[in-house]
Amino acid sequence: MYLRCWLALLLALVPATLSTKPGLKIKLTEKGLEYGKSQSIAALQQKLKSIKIPDISGSWKVLHIGVVKYRLSNMQIVNIGLPKTEVDLVPGSAVRLSISNTFISLHGNWKIKYLHYMKNSGSFDLNVNKLTITTDIAIKSDETGRPAVSTVSCGATVGSLTIKFHGGASWLYNLIKDVLENKARKELQKQICPLVTEAVSDLNPQLKTLNVLAKVDQYAEIEYSMVSSPTISNSSVELSLKGEFYNIGKHQEPPFSPADFSLPPQIDRMLYIGVSVFTANSAAFVYNKAGALSLYITDDMIPQGSPFRLNTKTFGIFIPQIAKQFPGLMMKLLVKTVKDPIITFQPNNVTVQATATVTAYAIQPNATLAPLFVLNLETSVSAHVFVSGMSLAGDVALNKINLTLATSYVGDFQFKPLDNMFQMVLKVVVIPKLNAQLGKGHPLPTFGKTKLVNTQLQVLKDYMLIGTDVQFTG
Ligand SMILES: *[C@@H]1O[C@H](CO)[C@@H](O)[C@H](O)[C@H]1NC(C)=O
Ligand SMILES: *[C@@H]1O[C@H](CO)[C@@H](O)[C@H](O)[C@H]1NC(C)=O
Ligand SMILES: *[C@@H]1O[C@H](CO)[C@@H](O)[C@H](O)[C@H]1NC(C)=O
Ligand SMILES: *[C@@H]1O[C@H](CO)[C@@H](O)[C@H](O)[C@H]1NC(C)=O
Repeated sequence: MYLRCWLALLLALVPATLSTKPGLKIKLTEKGLEYGKSQSIAALQQKLKSIKIPDISGSWKVLHIGVVKYRLSNMQIVNIGLPKTEVDLVPGSAVRLSISNTFISLHGNWKIKYLHYMKNSGSFDLNVNKLTITTDIAIKSDETGRPAVSTVSCGATVGSLTIKFHGGASWLYNLIKDVLENKARKELQKQICPLVTEAVSDLNPQLKTLNVLAKVDQYAEIEYSMVSSPTISNSSVELSLKGEFYNIGKHQEPPFSPADFSLPPQIDRMLYIGVSVFTANSAAFVYNKAGALSLYITDDMIPQGSPFRLNTKTFGIFIPQIAKQFPGLMMKLLVKTVKDPIITFQPNNVTVQATATVTAYAIQPNATLAPLFVLNLETSVSAHVFVSGMSLAGDVALNKINLTLATSYVGDFQFKPLDNMFQMVLKVVVIPKLNAQLGKGHPLPTFGKTKLVNTQLQVLKDYMLIGTDVQFTG
């Protein structure tokens, strides 16, 4: 008894301790479900065309005639229509697909034999009307963190059947009609749900294309696996994805984790993607750890027309020791972050705060670098974020910088006069380089060949909301 209680308690605790909060959420609205439905109905219709009604044969004893043998064969579906399909959400459990007024038209042949030598044959049309199919589809996370759908219930009801015979005499029709009707009903009831189940399973290969680990560049990849099964509310299906940047091949967790966030109740677009500030900060963590946030600046990167050159002559005007100790040498600067940059999302405002050092070197004739001084750089940049194709990209502009002298290898000097020169270097060299990288963006979660249209992006507190319609192009 105690053991059972303990087990129950343990089982209750395990999912809670294992569960990870999502860094990214995807909300599929009713508009999105409608689009998904319109894309899948044709496939279901195709499936239902494979319904086969086996040949029927038998015999009766008829007064004055004796034994009449009959055979109904070659029954083929000639037309099928699913004019009314609806998707509804069953909060907490499933997506319900209801198909009503379905019609199926079949054509077949009949043949009878009696009095040993009398034969008669013709064809018939069988129309199935007001067929109703209702199926509940569950969406779960599979073992790879991709969504998977399955049919949890299915029911098919055949409304009415009408049969029209061609050829032969009417007394025969009544004999065959009931048999045919019963058989057709039974076969339809038996075959429809397994085909619906198949059509639903056929969606899984498409869902399996979710890019659960999307490569960004040589340093980073982003994980989009689901951290829990989707939640189904009365108006949407919501997927909770990890949305975390990692070093390629080396998955180290940052010293912070995602905060709870919930998407607003918007419904105009098919999809809403909420990208939390955690996702952005995990990128900052990865790139800083990988040493990717550093840049050597050489004189050839400074615009031609600039009076400031990266050489000891120019610097010597402000710091005479440099010109004296290292006459006639070119210089090099190394800008390097010393902490993970911190990104904040406020309504309509993305700000990145970075702490870096700028080390100035003289390039000696034998190519060794002689350090001259080190500056601390506190900078804040404003980012503009946008969706480009299937990627989230951005660019930044300098807000403010604060440069202070950290170490000098050439004795005391007044740093202030150099402030403008470093601002210029940041503006014309560092920021454009950064923007070239940010402009490439990183891939958003996608399923197969899709295109985003009518995309809008809003920055809200602690997350960004991308509202978009989708077009399957594959
Ligand atoms: C849907 O659910 C929300 C919250 O759970 C509730 O406020 C709302 O009234 C529901 N809407 C409908 C149409 O049931
Ligand atoms: C954005 O927010 C930062 C502080 O988080 C502030 O310094 C900056 O001025 C804001 N920018 C705009 C355009 O509001
Ligand atoms: C390079 O030249 C500098 C200055 O002449 C000297 O101090 C240094 O030892 C040299 N380094 C190497 C590796 O030759
Ligand atoms: C610049 O940074 C220094 C050292 O971190 C700090 O003492 C100073 O207050 C900062 N100045 C501004 C204007 O933020």
